Amino acid sequence: MRASHVKQKRILLIISGGIAAYKCLDLIRRMREAGASVRAVMTKAATEFITPLSVGALTSERVFTSLFDLNDEQEIGHIRLSREADLLIVAPATADLIAKMASGHADDLASTVLLATDKPVLVAPAMNPRMWMHPATQRNVAQLRADGLHFVGPNTGEMAERDEAGPGRLAEVPEIIAAATSILAERARGAIAHLHARPLQGRHVLVTSGPTHEPIDPVRYIANRSSGKQGHAIARAAVALGARVTLVSGPVSITDPPGVDVVRVETAKEMLAAVEKNLPADIAIFAAAVADWRSASAAQQKLKKSGDKPSLDLIENPDILATVGKLRTGRPRLVIGFAAETSSVASEAARKLKSKGADWIVANDVSPDRGVFGGDGNTVHLVTAQGTEDWPTLSKDEVARRLLQRAAEHLSSGAAAAE
Ligand code: CTP
Repeated sequence: MRASHVKQKRILLIISGGIAAYKCLDLIRRMREAGASVRAVMTKAATEFITPLSVGALTSERVFTSLFDLNDEQEIGHIRLSREADLLIVAPATADLIAKMASGHADDLASTVLLATDKPVLVAPAMNPRMWMHPATQRNVAQLRADGLHFVGPNTGEMAERDEAGPGRLAEVPEIIAAATSILAERARGAIAHLHARPLQGRHVLVTSGPTHEPIDPVRYIANRSSGKQGHAIARAAVALGARVTLVSGPVSITDPPGVDVVRVETAKEMLAAVEKNLPADIAIFAAAVADWRSASAAQQKLKKSGDKPSLDLIENPDILATVGKLRTGRPRLVIGFAAETSSVASEAARKLKSKGADWIVANDVSPDRGVFGGDGNTVHLVTAQGTEDWPTLSKDEVARRLLQRAAEHLSSGAAAAE
């Protein structure tokens, strides 16, 4: 984390009612230690969990709890509350507040400030796992992402109700601060000009995601541990920036990102065909973990244990990234690959950049101890012809958002125009 991006920044923290509200006290303390000033708005329900007195003691500012506190002209209006902030953080964000935000309600101070703001908003949800996974909440979250809001968490783990486990825990304080820092850093570069900016409007972004399954016989296949989380997050981030998005996905168990044309495939050959069919694109991002080999002759009938011991004769699959990266006509203006490595991450990525004809490679260390496969976090390095940038550990959503923001800047820069 680069504390400098938080220093002297004004954070408006919106606290809604949930058992995790107490963690806000530590969040405020840590943000102030990093040099930020923090002003807090609490919903009525939040005041049932922690007192405005303790929040005010930590922020050293008055705590705002009601719309009607703001009527007096001497007082701060809700527009001023958001105007005077660099970033709004909603933590914890309950299912109810998320629903209000998604449908544009403004019936208390927190929802009114959130509706009135044009500043970046970081949402840290916390709720019971069933409430988080309910289609209504997922729909609301998808809407807010598409509207350009940022999310951190929820994390998976044990909940306050002991017998409940699953996604719903408030992200840890350092994770919230890392996400806030990343947003403020991009804002400092002028990359996030406006909450509702749509820099990829009118662009087509093609994304591959997930593993491929290569059949051995009708019931068995060769596969890998890819969950599709990173590729799907990229598709979501591209939609949020206004792009038309085609997602070519191998078999995954996660839900389709809303607002995306999803093409489902099984094998590498099918993935290549779907990619070729969906070109042209302005940006193509290859996040799929494509199986390098397939069985030379998949059996038509199930291989029986009683038969001869089978041996697998493997042949190489087509390289989809290299095929598109080396296109002479109709090549997307920006071709981005991933490099999943367990050693020599940066040098391997630089080699793949050249050998596959990519413009950028997002390299990540997928050693088992890193928990990248199936996990929510990722530590990546962006490798371009200009060199390697090390990114901090971020959520897969945040990696996606940054990457797409950079891609949008690249397309609108003179460099791209000159290509
Ligand atoms: N890729 C692809 N088609 C393949 C293999 C890989 O499009 N048949 C893409 C991946 O989507 C990723 C990049 O190429 O963007 C690198 O994938 P990776 O698995 O890291 O590299 P490999 O080509 O498999 O090389 P190696 O086995 O040497 O690591």
